[in-house]
Amino acid sequence: MTDWVLACATDDIDEEDLIRFDHEDKTYAIYNTDNGFFATAGYCTHEVQHLEDGLVIGNVIECPLHQGRFEISSGKALSAPVCEDLVSYPVKVEGDQIYIQIV
Ligand code: FES
Repeated sequence: MTDWVLACATDDIDEEDLIRFDHEDKTYAIYNTDNGFFATAGYCTHEVQHLEDGLVIGNVIECPLHQGRFEISSGKALSAPVCEDLVSYPVKVEGDQIYIQIV
């Protein structure tokens, strides 16, 4: 079963930034980029480091711990030391509310 879950409001996230969203026993990262809003798993795939304090550079999130990079829109791992992709989640915006689809 898939569920759309209300994550936040559009103005909760500054442009070129992200916020942490915790739901049930999981944590996510919700991004506001020039290309729209996106969602990925919250933790880096390298070590247990949340991406909430990472740096958004266009369509790239840079992990704050070892500066590994991922493509925000797809979760694809782009540069060492990360080699495992982030899980990404569909996002929809209704009015000023952001929903993510959680499997
Ligand atoms: S924990 Fe993210 S790059 Fe190492």
